[in-house]
Amino acid sequence: MTSQEHTTGSDAADRADEFAAAGGAAEFAGEGGAAPSTDAGGTAEFAGRVVLITGAASGIGRSIAERLAGRGARVVGVDVAEAIRDVVDGLPGEGHLPLRRDLTDPGAAAAIVEEVERELGTPHVLVNSAGVAILSPASELPASDWRRTMDINLDASFYMAQAAGRAMTRAGYGRIVNLASQAAVVGLDEHVAYCASKAAIVGMTKAMSLEWAPHGVTVNAVSPTIVETPLGKKAWAGEKGERARAGIPAGRFAQPEEVAAMVAYLASDDAGMVTGTNMLLDGGFTSV
Ligand SMILES: NC(=O)c1ccc[n+]([C@@H]2O[C@H](COP(=O)([O-])OP(=O)(O)OC[C@H]3O[C@@H](n4cnc5c(N)ncnc54)[C@H](O)[C@@H]3O)[C@@H](O)[C@H]2O)c1
Repeated sequence: MTSQEHTTGSDAADRADEFAAAGGAAEFAGEGGAAPSTDAGGTAEFAGRVVLITGAASGIGRSIAERLAGRGARVVGVDVAEAIRDVVDGLPGEGHLPLRRDLTDPGAAAAIVEEVERELGTPHVLVNSAGVAILSPASELPASDWRRTMDINLDASFYMAQAAGRAMTRAGYGRIVNLASQAAVVGLDEHVAYCASKAAIVGMTKAMSLEWAPHGVTVNAVSPTIVETPLGKKAWAGEKGERARAGIPAGRFAQPEEVAAMVAYLASDDAGMVTGTNMLLDGGFTSV
């Protein structure tokens, strides 16, 4: 960072105030003290916000896109899958942008953030949800599968957060949420590369949070148990899944909408003092 880019906490606070005055302020209109809901709309909490979501074509990323778009956000959905165009086209609201990109391409992250800044302005929120789970006993995992897991789950998340973080710290406001996993805090059979990549996400989250807190940018991780998405269903099919379900005190897997609700909180103005955390959403699995 250059000295010109360096800002103090109060500079950041001033800019966040200006941002709010310019129409970006989040108001929980109508939410009051109501119990949290997992529906996709009902408030304009994210009106005027530019929200960048990787892995938005499927599962958790898609559910987050639907929730935040339903609350007024302009969503930039990034995914390698062709489906990203239809998913983003189908979001509530307007002004969204689908970007079909492979996040393992060198330079992809920087180019994406540059394009978003040019087309929509500085992103207010980044959610890193793109990820893979390639399972194998540790002694048999091919080097190529280790590398691919790290390339997508860790490196792509780092480069996206780095590129978005540079822009956000300059603007004096930002919310970054990284999808980790319960596998970041406990070992899981045949998940050696996945566990390592997700534990690293938590370390990265903490380090970034310290550096960027003075600039109005929060960085947090969310760690779900098994979520009923294409990735979750594939990794936990059959009898193995039933055993895993029995080990979750809540007695069930999580739904993508439940993860989206937690991410929406961390992406909101209300969470301005929450940074560097790894929020578990595991039905008690890691408390056993
Ligand atoms: N489903 C679970 O049980 C679970 C549990 C804990 C954490 N997570 C994490 O949540 C995140 C989302 O998982 P999900 O269950 O929604 O998975 P998913 O497979 O439904 O969606 C992941 C998306 O990432 C995209 N993607 C993969 N590689 C990419 C690349 N190189 N470039 C761009 N996009 C790419 C895929 O195309 C897909 O649309 C992942 O980081 C995952 O590790 C999932």
